Amino acid sequence: MLDQFRRNIEYVRISVTDLCNLRCRYCMPEYGVRKIRHEDVLSYEEILRVVRALAGLGIRKVRLTGGEPLVRGGIADLVRAVKAVPGIEQVAMTTNGVLLSPMAKDLKEAGLDSVNMSLDALSEDVFAFLARRPLLSWAKKGLEALLAAGFAEVKVNCVPIAGVNEDEILRLAELARQEEIKVRFIELMPIGCAFRAGFRGVPMAEVKERLAREYGTLLSVSQGSGIHGPAEYFRVPGFRGQVGFIDAMEHKFCSSCNRVRLTAEGFLKLCLHAGTGLDVRALLRGGADDGQLREALSRAIHRKPAEHFFLEEGGAGLRDERYMYQVGG
Ligand code: 5AD
Ligand code: SF4
Repeated sequence: MLDQFRRNIEYVRISVTDLCNLRCRYCMPEYGVRKIRHEDVLSYEEILRVVRALAGLGIRKVRLTGGEPLVRGGIADLVRAVKAVPGIEQVAMTTNGVLLSPMAKDLKEAGLDSVNMSLDALSEDVFAFLARRPLLSWAKKGLEALLAAGFAEVKVNCVPIAGVNEDEILRLAELARQEEIKVRFIELMPIGCAFRAGFRGVPMAEVKERLAREYGTLLSVSQGSGIHGPAEYFRVPGFRGQVGFIDAMEHKFCSSCNRVRLTAEGFLKLCLHAGTGLDVRALLRGGADDGQLREALSRAIHRKPAEHFFLEEGGAGLRDERYMYQVGG
């Protein structure tokens, strides 16, 4: 459906849990994480009701995120059920990959189309520092299983942080040499834990420059039709895969934003960086029928804000104080 700025909203990111088996320093605090009470998290049945209503409004792509979606039991069943909703063409997942190795095949069989795996380092010590857990070998096994399972699309996402994992940039890019995957670099957004930790993201222009210095000119790839996110992709001479960049600090992709988000507690967020949205759980549990649910979702999506505000002084009032693990990126 079109929102008030005539953007076509066809993609929903659904956080299925706020729990995670890592504690990445830019995303989650080590201690004092306030867990959502079990009964406050949407059940799979409730998620499916929302997906059906959204599909009726023109949503065609669903991404399951967390926290870490693989820590929630029965996730392959949810994938299968979402994929079966009429109108839903693509089901994707964002995961840290730690639990992926025994599950990749089941997820593929359940109908999962594509997986984005977050991986910020390929060196044991850097991974363990950043994720606060020494689980790189698990993540690597997860990535291997992912490649073996035959997904249509696999992406690896890295958030480069100045002085922390800068030396991992080339190592991670190398993953795209032998495999037909997209290795993407995402600019750190200065919110929540990242802000508190005093982390500074490596600007995308600099990441590009580092890659160009190593590999020569990067050749821009046009994305064709389909439901795309905000990444730009490039070919590297001699690579089977591609590298991509997400320049989160620029406003340039707000005007073509195609997505909304549903938190694990059932709050429909209209923009990653704004608190505005709709308490869908209250509707679901307050006895709204399918027509009322759809009508409320439609009205909310129509109001999606124009752009994010986190570079602006006066933006604080609209800024959302939720951490990234509560929203799912
Ligand atoms: N800035 C950019 N990306 C972030 N992620 C988590 N926190 C931030 C942040 N502050 C990313 C994770 C993961 C995705 C879900 O969001 O690395 O890839
Ligand atoms: Fe977990 Fe992802 Fe946050 Fe790391 S970035 S703590 S893997 S949700």
